[in-house]
Amino acid sequence: MIIAIDGYSSCGKSTIAKGIAAALNFVYIDTGAMYRAVTLYAMQRGWVNMNNDVRINQEQLAHSIDDIHIHFEVNPETKTQQTFLNGKNVENKIRSLEVADLVSEVSKLAFVRKKMVALQQTYAACGNIVMDGRDIGTVVFPHAECKFFVTATTQVRAQRRYDELLAKGEHVQLADVLHNIEQRDFIDSTRSESPLRKADDAVLVDTSNMTREEQLTWILSYITQYRK
Ligand code: DC
Repeated sequence: MIIAIDGYSSCGKSTIAKGIAAALNFVYIDTGAMYRAVTLYAMQRGWVNMNNDVRINQEQLAHSIDDIHIHFEVNPETKTQQTFLNGKNVENKIRSLEVADLVSEVSKLAFVRKKMVALQQTYAACGNIVMDGRDIGTVVFPHAECKFFVTATTQVRAQRRYDELLAKGEHVQLADVLHNIEQRDFIDSTRSESPLRKADDAVLVDTSNMTREEQLTWILSYITQYRK
């Protein structure tokens, strides 16, 4: 069974997806982490940077795209999933605001998406999976059995993301986090390559006024009904 969870940045998708995976013993795949890892790879080589606008050396990145190897491992102690880029654990690095500022531009590129989508589709062989992203129900797995489209107001999402970054010890301003979310919403939903949109058969979940427990309970009961 494939469960697809799409939605806007910082709307709680990954928390929901991890909760489903833990409750149903599914494999969880965070596709945003994959686009973030590609962005980090390009940043480390100086192929993407921001002055007033984002500049990407597309030629270099396209040339090296097959040298980018991404995989996930679960840390046995913390039980959290870690993202590896060419054998190195980059889980913390890919969550920085610096990467967040550039990732939407990198994930617009058709050759990047083609490579990531192909890799994501190979995960279907893992059996039961729950995958979160922007185009899972529309492009990666259009025939997924259960699809959810998660949303929340921009203010609520910015506050949640801000709290998360503060808890990790990052020094950020709420206004910058809000700006980043607005920018990413705009880029993710207006890009020509597989823009963020709700699949016609996806269930809309607005988490603005729901606690994490409520979100998970609601979605798990929906999946349980579906499986009956
Ligand atoms: O879910 P996230 O915030 O970690 O995703 C980071 C970025 O990656 C997001 O701004 C858009 C992009 N992305 C995408 O284009 N397609 C996906 N399936 C997942 C993420």
